[in-house]
Amino acid sequence: MTEKIDAIIVAAGSGTRLGFSMPKAFVPLHGKPILLWSLKQFLSFALVDKVILVVPEDLIDKTRKQFDDNRITVIRGGDYRWVSVYNGVCQSKAQWILVHDAARPFVNHTIIDDLVKKRSEFDCVITVTPEVDTIKEFKADRAGTTIDRSKVVRVGTPQLFRRSVLLDGFKAVPKMDNVPTDEAMLMERTGIEVGIAWGDPLNFKITTPSDFRIAEALLEKDKSMCMGPD
Ligand code: C5P
Repeated sequence: MTEKIDAIIVAAGSGTRLGFSMPKAFVPLHGKPILLWSLKQFLSFALVDKVILVVPEDLIDKTRKQFDDNRITVIRGGDYRWVSVYNGVCQSKAQWILVHDAARPFVNHTIIDDLVKKRSEFDCVITVTPEVDTIKEFKADRAGTTIDRSKVVRVGTPQLFRRSVLLDGFKAVPKMDNVPTDEAMLMERTGIEVGIAWGDPLNFKITTPSDFRIAEALLEKDKSMCMGPD
């Protein structure tokens, strides 16, 4: 039997840096909630069995009504991103889990496909893009050491995990000095080798008002990125 893959889309962040009064994932982008753009990509990806949408508690009922589909489960998130992902994992029985930020609306089938193909080699695979800027450490108003950019990558989502390995990874959280900013950090702590799949810089995370303007402009310019009427 083929091993099942579920997708968890985390959409429970407040997104205060974006400057809207509603949580970021629900802000309309080109007329549709930001989270809808990635939801459509995962639902239409043939290998994905079900999609778990993790949203703020007060938006659960509204989201359930809006996305009434038996392949979608809507649940509440937590105070930290890893808690939102953990809540999602607890809803799945699939062997493989794709974790995606709702704030990255430009994920596409090529990106997802490149990631899932690597599950024959790794228990965890992350989407990365090259770093193009010069990267330096800093303290207060002083620049410090320059980091060789050819040795670093920018890490995004989707990320793929064997579910059992991801569940094990959460046990490392209490021992960590900082709150993990992605779940691949948990793999570092548990000694699991993490594979990389080169993604697309256009699959950027909408964080600031300028990211939002870029996203709107891209959709305005390239109608082929737009979805149908529903
Ligand atoms: O805060 P950041 O931009 O890193 O969030 C990445 C994704 O994680 C967003 O889609 C956000 O909605 C989600 N998130 C979440 N629960 C949190 C914090 C962030 O689902 N507590």
